[in-house]
Amino acid sequence: MKLLIDDAHVDEIKRIFEEYPIDGVTTNPSILSKVNQNPVTTLKQIREIIGPDSLLFVQAVPTDTEGMIRDARAIYQAFGKQTIVKIPAVPAGFRAIRELKKEGVPTCGTVVYTPLQAYLAAKAGASYVAPYVNRIDNMGYDGIQVTMEIQDILDNNALDTEVLAASFKNCQQVLALAQYGVGGATAAPNVIDAMVNNRAIDGAVDDFVKDFEKVAGGKTMAD
Ligand code: E4P
Repeated sequence: MKLLIDDAHVDEIKRIFEEYPIDGVTTNPSILSKVNQNPVTTLKQIREIIGPDSLLFVQAVPTDTEGMIRDARAIYQAFGKQTIVKIPAVPAGFRAIRELKKEGVPTCGTVVYTPLQAYLAAKAGASYVAPYVNRIDNMGYDGIQVTMEIQDILDNNALDTEVLAASFKNCQQVLALAQYGVGGATAAPNVIDAMVNNRAIDGAVDDFVKDFEKVAGGKTMAD
């Protein structure tokens, strides 16, 4: 399962990217609005930090097909080949995804709340589909279950589209999807940190150092 950072704060992205095995960064207009500067500047800084080979997801803002296509071309042109343009999985978006597929611009069907939305985005030619796990939970449905169903639909129909699950509240949700083997998950820095935020882990690491020092007199094998 791919693991991405769902955030736009460059200091946090730099830290998480250095500390964890991360495949890229996802953004949306709301995430970008939390950084007090022009979103294009932020996206350039993110691309600089993660390098040209990591995935960067950027959302097209317009709601009409022509506008989405125009935005998508500009995004792909500006941020490089490993950039995926997020397009809402709605009728105007399906048309945009189909056209962009012909042009070789990779897309992610986003704002996915139902398996059928994901199916249609995948059939239109999206490289990824992004179900919103926590938001689905908050509607009274089961976001993990919906995401697993989407993975099954893609597999059973031999659709060349990956799941990129999004909108996580905790790392348990990410774990459930990793166990199922979904294509990818994108989570905020606090959710990624929570994966290893555990006193037992920190205590075990400290104990090894203390036990070694007792007999070796130094802190490392190299001392
Ligand atoms: C993904 O890229 C989505 O836009 C994002 O994960 C939504 O998360 P939220 O439900 O926390 O806003």
